[in-house]
Amino acid sequence: MRILLANPRGFCAGVNMAIECLDEVIRMFGPHVFVYHEIVHNKYVVDRFTRQGVTFVNSVEEVPEGSVLLYSAHGVSPVIRQAARQRKLQTIDATCPLVTKVHLEAIKYAREKYNIILIGHEGHDEVIGTMGEAPESITLVETDEDVARLPFTAEDPLVYLTQTTLSVEEAGRVVAALKARYPHIKSPPKEDICYATTNRQEAVAQLAAEADLVIVLGSQNSSNSRRLMELGSAGNKPSYLVDGAHELNHAWFENVECVLITAGASAPEVVVQDCIEYLRTNFGAQVDERTIREEHVSFPLPKELRALQRLGS
Ligand code: F3S
Repeated sequence: MRILLANPRGFCAGVNMAIECLDEVIRMFGPHVFVYHEIVHNKYVVDRFTRQGVTFVNSVEEVPEGSVLLYSAHGVSPVIRQAARQRKLQTIDATCPLVTKVHLEAIKYAREKYNIILIGHEGHDEVIGTMGEAPESITLVETDEDVARLPFTAEDPLVYLTQTTLSVEEAGRVVAALKARYPHIKSPPKEDICYATTNRQEAVAQLAAEADLVIVLGSQNSSNSRRLMELGSAGNKPSYLVDGAHELNHAWFENVECVLITAGASAPEVVVQDCIEYLRTNFGAQVDERTIREEHVSFPLPKELRALQRLGS
């Protein structure tokens, strides 16, 4: 058996920063700190921090007054920031800068009286956070059918923004539908779907044709991981999204000669290596790593954390 190991895969710069941020907060304040929602959408990562003593919450009211609260990589809406201030929480913002960029675009266009069409998935943490920046001005669409139902006219000032972790192809279809209905609609100044989402999808799109089966490491609630699995399925390859080797099923691999392995932007490399080990042990698999694109992106820790580091040194 051959393993085609996709590169780039796994952790993106935003996830790396958020995890490093939480590690550093634990080092400075001890493990009994709080995180608003999952720090990143990955079970392995969240379980590791939970075992260390971190508490993940879904509302600010769950956090005792005066505690340390981290905002996750997906960002939060201003309502959450306000609630945290009222509770006198010490907050540290681990929002990915590429998510913050979309928030700032939403604020800017709302001030300029645009109607903002946000392409994204209802209920996703990032979408809730972005919509919270300008709830009166933002309308969420997921599909072409949603575009057909929009109430705006050719006179209304319109701009579209997108969630950072969408399928490049599907988002492109929705954008085409928007432009067909509203030729005057403004595009975001720079692509909102992030480099990590785009590159991981590009690698699967290029490599899946060579494989008999696709394994994506990632959690079910990870948007960018799900998009990778869907890309494999769209190429008519059996495609599975798993959290780790413990979820692999021996029967999937019978008579399979080539397995494409990739990982979503929140999945750690250790779970990829566990899967490779499983296939080596059970099927004598050999690894053929393919680099489609180099990535050299990194983000600094949040400025409030760097300020605390300076005070402590
Ligand atoms: Fe940021 Fe993209 Fe990762 S928005 S958290 S770099 S998937």
